[in-house]
Amino acid sequence: MRNLIQTADLTVGEIDEILKTAEDIIRQPGAYADRCRGMKLATLFFEPSTRTRLSFEAAMYELGGQVLGFSSATASSTVKGESVPDTIRVVSCYADIIAMRHPQAGAPMIALTKSLVPIINAGDGGHYHPTQTLTDLLTIHREKGRLDHLTVGFCGDLKYGRTVHSLLEALRRYEGNKFVLICPESLNLPAYVMEELEEHEYVCCSSLEEAMPMLDILYMTRVQKERFKSEADYDAVKDLYILDPDRMKLGKKDLCVLHPLPRVNEISVAVDDDPRACYFKQVENGKYVRMALILFLLARRRENDSRRFAKEDLIYHKVCTKSNCITSTTQEVQHIFKKVGKNRCRCIYCEAEQPLFEQ
Ligand code: CP
Repeated sequence: MRNLIQTADLTVGEIDEILKTAEDIIRQPGAYADRCRGMKLATLFFEPSTRTRLSFEAAMYELGGQVLGFSSATASSTVKGESVPDTIRVVSCYADIIAMRHPQAGAPMIALTKSLVPIINAGDGGHYHPTQTLTDLLTIHREKGRLDHLTVGFCGDLKYGRTVHSLLEALRRYEGNKFVLICPESLNLPAYVMEELEEHEYVCCSSLEEAMPMLDILYMTRVQKERFKSEADYDAVKDLYILDPDRMKLGKKDLCVLHPLPRVNEISVAVDDDPRACYFKQVENGKYVRMALILFLLARRRENDSRRFAKEDLIYHKVCTKSNCITSTTQEVQHIFKKVGKNRCRCIYCEAEQPLFEQ
């Protein structure tokens, strides 16, 4: 069975195939109206959402299927203490495919161990959000006509911004792309994402004004208040980058401005009418690309999961102590680390790093 936990679960060829299907759906939606007749999608949202949940639901309805699920953890037996693996085991008896969002990193990965049906990660904490990436890629492709040889600026909260982590994982695999990381040092990319960029062309830049003239794509992000440990830490960085009409004047004529939304104040509403503002087009593309993804995964229910860890790289004697990791709230879960480099290892659920050997 194939699942989508992170963008790397898809080859570049498979990403291109999903985007091609999405473009065909846009051209002839009627041809897809019955493709999922008799099938059910479960949307399990343990964390709030507007776009992702509703676009998944709209996608399944437009494919002729039906939807069940919950929009908050408090509307499920989670409040009675039920674990993610138990919830998934139950729901996979009722649905043909599951899209889930959870505030803890690794929740969809743990769901795989108990699910009878494909799992789609609709966002796990500050970790990954691969279906937003498919949305972003479709938008870039429709606006620029390509996914390669682009200079892409990521601005704002690159530390907790799961959409950034997933989009980088995809765009670095297309030839000739360059990256500009626009953020304060305290909000820079986590180590597991930064390491992936090592062999690619990128620059760090603390000034949005300086970066603007270089960019083909500007990917703005919200500072993720809900992931900060203290209000003071959040207040110190929340207003650092604000895209307004004056800053837009510094951008190329064919710049494409993206934002996964929701926004707070990082893009002035005065920018919305600029033809280079593409973030509401992204919202619309999200439905089509999720239709294509549902079809892709349902067609491959009998294939083996492409997710593979080399057995010799796995470590079972370490314990992850991070509170943002799904292992911190799941009973009797097997903690698993993978070796990275010579002396380090990383939790396979949340990517927290530990030395391989204690000093
Ligand atoms: N882009 C995104 O994930 O939006 P929601 O949180 O509204 O789903």
